[in-house]
Amino acid sequence: MADNRDIDHHSGVETTGHEWDGLKELNNPLPRWWVLVFWATIIWSVAYWVVYPSWPMLPGADRSADYVKGIWGVSERAQAMAGVAADKAAQSKFTDQIAKMSLKEINASPELLKFSAVAGRMAFLNNCAGCHGSGAQGGPGYANLNDDNWLWGGTLDEIQQTILYGIRNGADQARGGGSTAGMPERASVLKPDQINDVAEYVLSLSKKSADAAASARGKALFSGDGGCTACHGDDGKGNKDLGSANLTTGIFQWGGAKADIVKTIAEGRAGVMPAWAGKLEPTAVKELAVYIHSLGGGK
Ligand code: HEC
Ligand code: HEC
Repeated sequence: MADNRDIDHHSGVETTGHEWDGLKELNNPLPRWWVLVFWATIIWSVAYWVVYPSWPMLPGADRSADYVKGIWGVSERAQAMAGVAADKAAQSKFTDQIAKMSLKEINASPELLKFSAVAGRMAFLNNCAGCHGSGAQGGPGYANLNDDNWLWGGTLDEIQQTILYGIRNGADQARGGGSTAGMPERASVLKPDQINDVAEYVLSLSKKSADAAASARGKALFSGDGGCTACHGDDGKGNKDLGSANLTTGIFQWGGAKADIVKTIAEGRAGVMPAWAGKLEPTAVKELAVYIHSLGGGK
């Protein structure tokens, strides 16, 4: 058999027979390290198949059995669940106490207060921030929880009550007691210039009115035809049973510009908050109450 191998004259190495414009490709062996790595990866992959989950099987009723588990039986889900259980166990040191203690006792314990601040903050971000803002600063129509101005009361128990049952959501235990009514519209009772005057008076309650004459006319309407004192009190300081705002603080959930106040009076306002009893663990509600109370001057 004729030897038709082509040997390169300069290097003495056999060529592959490929040639481009007189350049020939030498058929050098692969470097040894490369071949070793190549075999190592093959051996690795075979070993991996054996010890780790690798092959899918036909899906059956039992989803946990529709793959080959490998001899080590590794499961990331099981690892995650074990992590959660370990976290729960570590936290139970605190949550077991929180479950048993009153809000006052929790608030008085520096350790539990610190834990509640972190756990309450997490629960807040997950459940409340959508309406109240990530900094609990609120927004038009959504209560600011950082100030010490409370529509429904700022004691630990009052805050817990608000969180448990919500506000004006129609449930009997909710703030508003089964009613969804809030501030009624007054456009059917007052004429636009009267609404303007009464808005001026509301501004004067926090020393923000620039029109003394209009404010004086508004004062008469506030206790007279406007019927405002029935809910906001003679002094305008509101009533926590009704959630009627204290109008003397200069803090306005629905906006403190003259135009906002005119709109509030003309059209009425009714903030609604869902209940959290049954949705959050009782300990989470307690942590939230203590956390919210700590934010901005709870009572
Ligand atoms: C769907 C929107 C919404 C969500 C979610 C929500 N809130 Fe509220 N919350 C409101 C509104 C609106 C008000 C103001 C109601 C009013 O005008 O009387 C309010 C008021 C409050 C008040 C009373 C403030 C006061 O001045 O008395 C507290 C306390 C409160 N929210 C806590 C929470 C906590 C804690 C969560 C999460 C577990 C939460 N809220 C989730 C809408 C919401
Ligand atoms: C039937 C009870 C009721 C009457 C009457 C009433 N209010 Fe209100 N008012 C409320 C309630 C409740 C709120 C809180 C609404 C909310 O936050 O959801 C409120 C809120 C307000 C606010 C908004 C406060 C804020 O934080 O932004 C203003 C301003 C106001 N009332 C002014 C008046 C004036 C002026 C009158 C009379 C013309 C009047 N109200 C009559 C119950 C009443």
